[in-house]
Amino acid sequence: MTERVSTWRPHAYSVATMRAQARRVLPRPIFDFADGGAEDERTLRRNEAAFSAFGFLPRPLCGSSHRDLSIELFGKSLRLPVLIGPTGLAGLFWPDGECATARAAARAGTVYCASHASVVPLEAIAACEASPRWMQVFVYRDRGFTREFAERAAAAKYDALVLTIDNQLTGNRERDLRNGFTIPPRFGPAAFAAMALKLPWLMRMRGELKYITFGNYVDRLGASDLKTLAERMPSLLDTSLSWRDVDQLRSWWKGPFLLKGILHPQDAKEALARGVDGVIVSNHGGRQLDGAVAAVEALPAVVEAVAGRIPILVDGGIRRGRDVIVALALGASACVIGRPHLWGLAVAGEAGVMQVLEILRREIDRVMGLCGVSSIGQIGPDLLMREDCLPLHPTC
Ligand SMILES: Cc1cc2nc3c(=O)[nH]c(=O)nc-3n(C[C@H](O)[C@H](O)[C@H](O)COP(=O)(O)O)c2cc1C
Repeated sequence: MTERVSTWRPHAYSVATMRAQARRVLPRPIFDFADGGAEDERTLRRNEAAFSAFGFLPRPLCGSSHRDLSIELFGKSLRLPVLIGPTGLAGLFWPDGECATARAAARAGTVYCASHASVVPLEAIAACEASPRWMQVFVYRDRGFTREFAERAAAAKYDALVLTIDNQLTGNRERDLRNGFTIPPRFGPAAFAAMALKLPWLMRMRGELKYITFGNYVDRLGASDLKTLAERMPSLLDTSLSWRDVDQLRSWWKGPFLLKGILHPQDAKEALARGVDGVIVSNHGGRQLDGAVAAVEALPAVVEAVAGRIPILVDGGIRRGRDVIVALALGASACVIGRPHLWGLAVAGEAGVMQVLEILRREIDRVMGLCGVSSIGQIGPDLLMREDCLPLHPTC
């Protein structure tokens, strides 16, 4: 595998400017594939907007000259409380996109979670030797295939297994329908023109496009082209996914095991009772059930249900360091990003992902400094006030 590291650092000073640059460099169907959500994109917008319901109650006189952004998660020390979540087909955004991202995460001192739908197989990502690395899986009708995924991840020394529970049916993503980004692809003249016009992307990807596939499925399904694999994917997934599957995976995977897609506090309690090691409060970035509550809205009840017994991560709509601080103040152990790292990847490969993580690191550090907080452990509900002006901390 060739390692292509762009030496060019994008001049993005915020995640929003990185998104704007990604929009300029990517063909419309690919930009929309990442940027879009399900149906009317209410949940997508709600994820971002929900953070505005909170304001900070800073205590500047508690300031310190140094802020420590590190956290400990499943026995590993991370340099910042932001992880990179699983996103399928990252190789569409930059050649060898998964490895570029994994390396950027490792350099920034955080976790990269590989997607079941990576372009290259999970073993190839592991071969980049970036760590910590987590592996995300689904439950298939053929439970033997599910088990195979877990065994492959263990053999490739992934540090944790993440079962995504909110994707057994694919969300109705209407931007993809409009753009012909479907299986089979129905690209019209506008989509082809959009690709031809994005020359740097086209030049970068021209030798790669024929290798774009779901790398983890090739051997098992005996086909290597994306169209065939994607056509067969929905029939592989089992919509009757249940807690029995969670138990089974729990017994097959010996390391840290997380559920991704928890919104209901009762599900978080059940996960805890079944020996799950962590939950990711998530609505899949608004790509699945349009109308679901924002992840950060669901977070407080999950925190209460779990009562500190396992780490709770949250994703969806995190675009600023201040969003991370809000989530941590509400009781999250760490945050996960999806789209922001893909925007960085599209703009400058590994350097772009690093830049996104660096932007968030700087923003987190600044907010901590302005709030008078010197370590992540000091961030608590007393730092927040809700829109309705009620301090969240019971003693305030
Ligand atoms: C292009 C794209 C592909 C994704 N693929 C997966 C996937 O394969 N597995 C998964 O569990 N989540 C997947 N997600 C969801 C992300 O892991 C994450 O939950 C979501 O993007 C977080 O919201 P944010 O994009 O607002 O940060 C994907 C998200 C995007 C944008």
